[in-house]
Amino acid sequence: MAADLVVRNIGTLWTPIAADSPAKGEGMTEIREIKNAFLAVKDGVILDMGEGDGAAHVGGRTQIHDARGDLVTPGLVDSHTHVVHYGSREYEFEKKMRGVPYLKILEEGGGILSSVRATREATPEELYRQSKRSLDIMLTHGVTTVEGKSGYGLDMETELKQLRVQKALAGDHPVDIVPTFLGAHALPEDFKEDRMSFLEGVVDMMDTVREEGLAEFVDIFCEKGVFNVEESRYILSEAKKRGFGLKIHADEIEPLGGVELACELGAASADHLMVITDEGITALKHANTVANVLPSTSFYLGSDYAPVRKMLEAGVALAVSSDYNPGSSPSENFQFTLNIAAIHLKMSPEEILNAATKNAAHSVMRGDRIGALEKGMAADFVIYDAKNFPYVLYHFAINHVRDVFKNGRLVVHNKQCVWEEET
Ligand code: NIG
Ligand code: FE
Repeated sequence: MAADLVVRNIGTLWTPIAADSPAKGEGMTEIREIKNAFLAVKDGVILDMGEGDGAAHVGGRTQIHDARGDLVTPGLVDSHTHVVHYGSREYEFEKKMRGVPYLKILEEGGGILSSVRATREATPEELYRQSKRSLDIMLTHGVTTVEGKSGYGLDMETELKQLRVQKALAGDHPVDIVPTFLGAHALPEDFKEDRMSFLEGVVDMMDTVREEGLAEFVDIFCEKGVFNVEESRYILSEAKKRGFGLKIHADEIEPLGGVELACELGAASADHLMVITDEGITALKHANTVANVLPSTSFYLGSDYAPVRKMLEAGVALAVSSDYNPGSSPSENFQFTLNIAAIHLKMSPEEILNAATKNAAHSVMRGDRIGALEKGMAADFVIYDAKNFPYVLYHFAINHVRDVFKNGRLVVHNKQCVWEEET
């Protein structure tokens, strides 16, 4: 059958193997490699792929794209970000560098709360513009799907503003955005004496968020000095009753038992896990919850790295994400996150690709469509200025991505976003 697009002259096609569930432990070393490959696309989906030039799929209208003998992987899936927020926090950076701890800055009304103030003041247009710019950077770095959280409003009006802007962007921008409601990201200062009424307010917000179709997941920051395990149980149980998928920020600074809670409630993912306990690892091993580790945050906060080798030996399913946000991970360069995963988490290239595509897709319930290249899956893929994936991990902190295709459409060409110039 004639394809809409044939990408030929692919030196190496490297992809995880699509499956109904995420790869776990040892399974994360499995990769399908095809040398001298082609990819044929029809209606935004992979029609065929394999060795050779795909000539059988070339018809009169088929667009041909030359991969110049280079590497192709699935589009990267960044499954934990706070992409929609306003402003930046460089004025706190110095404080942090002088050694003031992350939670201390928050306790003093800075940190997340200063981004909350900026986001409350921003107009939807300002918020849209800043977030669109970030999505463009992510896309040029090879990311074709992101998860994006609210959580810089902490009141009904601003949480809805953030989620509506995100929904508008998801409609306009080639990067798909999986929306998460993180109303319980921090306790606003005016609720210090009345935590319960804040949490009840978050539950009320969930109803509006659901009615407007603004989120698929609900998340909470379960951390010492933020929300405890019982508060997290309350929020996540109410979310579950309303049909949301669940996520949790857990074991980032102090292990409180948030991972065990996530496994008990059947959360799609438990995220951070820098200080996860043996009990937490055992819980993950027996659950379907994906362990989503965020090594850029460890790098940026100068804190512990998640004990990934131990988790993989235990047979846990692992995803890696950027955690892009204005405080603990202010960089949209997901390839750099993957460099850190290689260097500090000691993950192999095969494990990293599984974590950043297939398992990430499962952690946002999209494993049946994205995260691997195979007939019938979405034609989201990336062509690198590199011959192999280990090179991308080794030659760190630069952008190796040359071209990006989203649903079979060329959206980044020679490192530039071209999606706005309609063809
Ligand atoms: O995942 N830990 C909580 N939330 C974000 C940081 C948000 C911020 O500092 O603005 C995180 O690291
Ligand atoms: Fe986060």
